[in-house]
Amino acid sequence: TKIEKVITKALITHELNKEEIIMLLEAEGKDKELLFQEADKLRKNNFGDEVHLRGIIEFSNYCSRECFYCGLRCQNHVVNRNRMTIDEIYEAAKEARNQGYMTIVLQSGEDSWYKVDILAELINKMKDNLDLAITMSVGEHSKNFYKILREAGADRYLLKHETSDKELFEKLRPGTTLQGRLNRLKDLRELGYQIGGGFMVGLPGQSIETLADDILLTKELDVEMAGIGPFIPHPETPLRGYPVGSVSMVLKVIAITRLLLPLTHLPATTALANLSPEGRFKALSCGANVIMPDLTPMIYKTNYEIYPKSSELLNFDNSFASWEKELLQHGRRVSKDYGHTPKPGFFA
Ligand code: 5AD
Ligand code: SF4
Repeated sequence: TKIEKVITKALITHELNKEEIIMLLEAEGKDKELLFQEADKLRKNNFGDEVHLRGIIEFSNYCSRECFYCGLRCQNHVVNRNRMTIDEIYEAAKEARNQGYMTIVLQSGEDSWYKVDILAELINKMKDNLDLAITMSVGEHSKNFYKILREAGADRYLLKHETSDKELFEKLRPGTTLQGRLNRLKDLRELGYQIGGGFMVGLPGQSIETLADDILLTKELDVEMAGIGPFIPHPETPLRGYPVGSVSMVLKVIAITRLLLPLTHLPATTALANLSPEGRFKALSCGANVIMPDLTPMIYKTNYEIYPKSSELLNFDNSFASWEKELLQHGRRVSKDYGHTPKPGFFA
């Protein structure tokens, strides 16, 4: 069939044009299953059965931005705001490392309360004492800011492009531009970070063409990781009442991204798990190879409400040992190394 031809082409060249991507995005039934199967095989050929665990610490839910989709936007006055102290962050990272986590992701809103030198000092201390890979996810900053963190030892940086539709981007992220975002990504690239990109699926105003462009942009940026998750409406945002992103569409987008970016780490995102606990495991069988368990201490975790978190997710046992057990039941092993990118050029 036509779909088989497109998938075969993707497996050989890892290139597809927009029309071909749209065809795969619209696949259903047997075609969809074939897409998932081939993405799963490709994942297995490149990464084996290892799943990388990245422990995430959401250390501050203060944010100066007003993104229309996000519950942490500054105009949300209902949410309780709080910040972990540098010592609390360090202790949470240490506990994670003791359990077996080899990567820690430090995430917050855009919160200027934490000065760059303080963050650099924290990163430095973690690198010296904890033998961890460190990923930062603290939003848009100057190249100098990124440089200081990089020199302190940060290995990776997460900055999703969110949506490739310029108008939609500027509507949903007032005061910022898609070009600005891409410039930040270029800065991170020049500084030698392993980059985590990605985007949301199901944003109001997003079309299937936009999604194809999102996949193509991810390919063009050639990111080392791509976080792809469903949009989940938050009641305290202007996008309340819009429908939630489709799990099936997210899975197709992950599978297509796997075909085009065979060596890129793809997490089965927490947003996906928030919609359906099996969603996360389904993602692991259609191209994904990373899980990002939330290790934030409970009080802070509850208040870190980008989207409403299910109580199931909030109460999930995210200990390293528990994930080892859970993943083993799905036939997968937990990686014991840093899980750096296998892409050439980084650790040559
Ligand atoms: N639904 C899903 N994902 C969201 N994000 C922010 N708000 C939402 C939402 N309502 C994602 C963005 C951001 C990451 C921290 O969370 O992609 O990069
Ligand atoms: Fe702030 Fe990020 Fe939420 Fe935007 S998406 S409001 S920058 S935390």
